[in-house]
Amino acid sequence: MSERPVVSFRDVHLSFDRPILRGVSFDLQAGQTKVVLGGSGSGKTTILRLILGLLKPESGSVKVDGTEVTGLSEEELRDVRLKVGMVFQEGALFDSLTVGENVGYRLNEDAALGPDEVEARVREMLGYVGLAPFYDHRPSQLSGGQRRRVAVARALVARPQLMLYDEPTTGLDPITATTITDLIVKVRDLDGVSSILVTHQLRDAFNVARTSVRREGETVVNTVADDLRAADGTGFLMLREGRVHFEGTPYELQASSDEYLREFLS
Ligand SMILES: Nc1ncnc2c1ncn2[C@@H]1O[C@H](COP(=O)(O)OP(=O)(O)OP(=O)(O)O)[C@@H](O)[C@H]1O
Ligand SMILES: [Mg+2]
Repeated sequence: MSERPVVSFRDVHLSFDRPILRGVSFDLQAGQTKVVLGGSGSGKTTILRLILGLLKPESGSVKVDGTEVTGLSEEELRDVRLKVGMVFQEGALFDSLTVGENVGYRLNEDAALGPDEVEARVREMLGYVGLAPFYDHRPSQLSGGQRRRVAVARALVARPQLMLYDEPTTGLDPITATTITDLIVKVRDLDGVSSILVTHQLRDAFNVARTSVRREGETVVNTVADDLRAADGTGFLMLREGRVHFEGTPYELQASSDEYLREFLS
């Protein structure tokens, strides 16, 4: 992917029974993570749905990898969606399908891949998220954290350039949540996938910001920065009353004296 932003919002407006987004602008640069914060109903999931072209803005521009999403045909939208992996709020797995079938779903739907290639790709993805032995299990046989990892594998299976995570750690205990945030970092740092992370869990957002992962030969090394100033691959964006109330680095967020932010952070 080139220098242009992976996602670009310009003055986006959208209302349902009331105005939800009232002039939202931001850019996500390649290889970076944008954490989207905001109260319930502030429009976080709406932003993800706009990126996927599931909703249209009333005005303003939504670009994905340089392509204006608004006004595309369903077929053109499919090409955009192939670049994007979405982890839905609650994971949203199909309980009637096995783990392997869940992960392979998009490949079976879209692609010209044969069944053996699909199975190989699915097994590779399950290995990547640490769930290789669960190929034939049902989602109901897994823990909450394992189900979230299946949802991540399903989103990654078509090798997207952009991952959208909607509350991927909500309802998980802190240790299990860390397995998810480590996975988000791995996808970002080892595979160079850009991401938008919607979350209420500031602890998890800061974990994503301060952790980095690199390969050293056969091993994968995790580093956690003590100093938030080093965590510059992650931008934070806070929505409030339809507008971007704050945008900045994790360090700027933590150091901010803005009253609304302080209350949200406390
Ligand atoms: N299809 C729709 N029709 C009507 N109203 C909608 C629709 N989708 C969302 N809304 C409303 O838009 C507002 C923003 O919804 P959104 O799902 O983006 O919030 P959110 O920030 O993700 O909240 P949460 O943290 O609870 O997930 C909410 O008030 C919601 O009720
Ligand atoms: Mg939501």
